[in-house]
Amino acid sequence: MASVLVCGGGNAAQVVSCLFASRYKVTAISLYADEAERWDKAVKEAKGMTCNFQGTNKAVNSMPDLITKDPSAVKNCDVVLFTVPSSFHEQYFRALEPFVQKGTIFAVMPARSGCDFLFKKVMGEKADTLGLAAFETLPWACRFNDWGKTATVLGTKESISAAVVPPLTKSKLDVILKLQGLLGVEPKIVECPNVMSISLGNPGQVIHPGVTYGKWHSWDGKPLPQKPLFYHGVDTQTADVLEGISGDITAICKALKTLDPNFDCSEVKTIMEWYMASYSTSIADGSTLQKAMSTNSAYEGLCHPMKESGGGYVPDFQFRYLSEDVPTGLCFSRGVAELLNVKTPTIDKVLTWAQGKLSKEFLKDGKMNGKDIKDTRAPQAFGVTSKDMLCSFLRIKKEA
Ligand code: NAI
Repeated sequence: MASVLVCGGGNAAQVVSCLFASRYKVTAISLYADEAERWDKAVKEAKGMTCNFQGTNKAVNSMPDLITKDPSAVKNCDVVLFTVPSSFHEQYFRALEPFVQKGTIFAVMPARSGCDFLFKKVMGEKADTLGLAAFETLPWACRFNDWGKTATVLGTKESISAAVVPPLTKSKLDVILKLQGLLGVEPKIVECPNVMSISLGNPGQVIHPGVTYGKWHSWDGKPLPQKPLFYHGVDTQTADVLEGISGDITAICKALKTLDPNFDCSEVKTIMEWYMASYSTSIADGSTLQKAMSTNSAYEGLCHPMKESGGGYVPDFQFRYLSEDVPTGLCFSRGVAELLNVKTPTIDKVLTWAQGKLSKEFLKDGKMNGKDIKDTRAPQAFGVTSKDMLCSFLRIKKEA
C-alpha cells in the first residue's frame, strides 16, 4: 500500500489528506507555526474530517494516520505530495532533503513555474535518485467550511497535465501509474512532455496577476462598499491584459522552437485554450475570453481578496494572487524570455506594477536582476544567466 506524505495545511492539504486517508496510509506535515498541532486537535475533535462533494450526496470521512511538523516522517513515505502554495515549496524541499530515501516521488500540485530548477538546487546530487511530477494545477477546487473539520470539494478536474522526471531506476510510466493509482479514476493524468511546458503553461501566472492588475492598476485608493467579483468581474480591458500575457508566453515558446525544432511546447496552451479545455461544461458563453470567464459557473461568487478598511474594503495585495503567482510564475517566464531575447511587453507592464505592490524589486532597468530576484523562480535566481546555460539545463541542442 502506498504511504503518502501530504505537505501543507490549507484547503488543498486538508482535503487531499482526508480523501487519501480513506484508502492509504497518510502522514500530513505542516511546517507552518503551530498548524500541525491545531489541525490534529480539530480533526480529532470532529472524529475525522468530512469532505462533501458539491452537487452530490457523496461525502468522505477520514483522518490522516499522523499529523506532524517533523520532516523525518518522509523516511517512511514513497510519495510526497506538495499541496502547499508554491511560495513555500523551497521550505518543504529543504526540510525533507536530509531524510528522503532513494526512489521517493515528489508530486507537486500545482508546481507553478520553475519547480525543476528549485528541485535540482535543493536536492543536489540526490535529485537523480528521486522522482518529480510537476502538475499544472490541483485536481480539485476545494474550500474548508469549518477549519480542520469539514470541507467542500467544489469540483474535480476530468484530466490534469503532469510532466514527470522519474528516478533513474524507474520509467515515466511507472511514476504515472503509481500516481494515477493514488488519484483513482478522476482526474486522468495526461503526460506533458517536459517541465518547461508546465512552467510556461502555468495558468495562475496569467490569471491571478492579470486580473488583479486589470482591476486595480488605476484604482483611486478609496475603499469599496463591497468585495468585487474576481472572475465574473473581468471586463474587456482585463481580458486583453490576460491575452497579452498569454501572447508573450506564446512568443517564448516560438523562441524555444527556433532553438530546437524538436523541443515540444505543444502542451503550452493559450489562456483561452486553457479555459475552454478546463471548463467547457461550466462556461455558458465561450465566444470570447471575457465572456468565458464571466459566465463560468465554477467560479461563481469568488471575489477579489480584500481587507476591511475605512468602513469598506480595500484590495489585499499580499494575498497569494500576487505574492505567489508573481515570484513563482511571471518572474520565471520573464526570466526565460530575457535569456532568449524575447520581448514581453504585457508581462513587463504587469510585473512592474505588481512588484511595487509587493514592495519587491525583481525587474530592474529592464533586466531580471533586481535585489529580490533570489526569492523568485526566474532561472537567473538559480545562476542560469545565459542562453547557453538555459539550453544545457533543458538539454536542448541549439540549431540557431
Ligand atoms: P491555502 O491558501 O489554503 O494555503 C494556506 C496554507 O499555506 C496554510 O494553511 C499553511 O499551511 C501554508 N502557509 C501559509 N502561510 C505560510 C507561511 N508564512 N509559512 C509557511 N506556510 C505557510 O491554499 P490552498 O487553497 O490549499 O491551495 C494550495 C495551492 O493550490 C495554491 O498554490 C493554490 O493556488 C492552488 N490551487 C488551489 C485550489 C483550491 O481550490 N484550493 C484550486 C487550484 C489551485
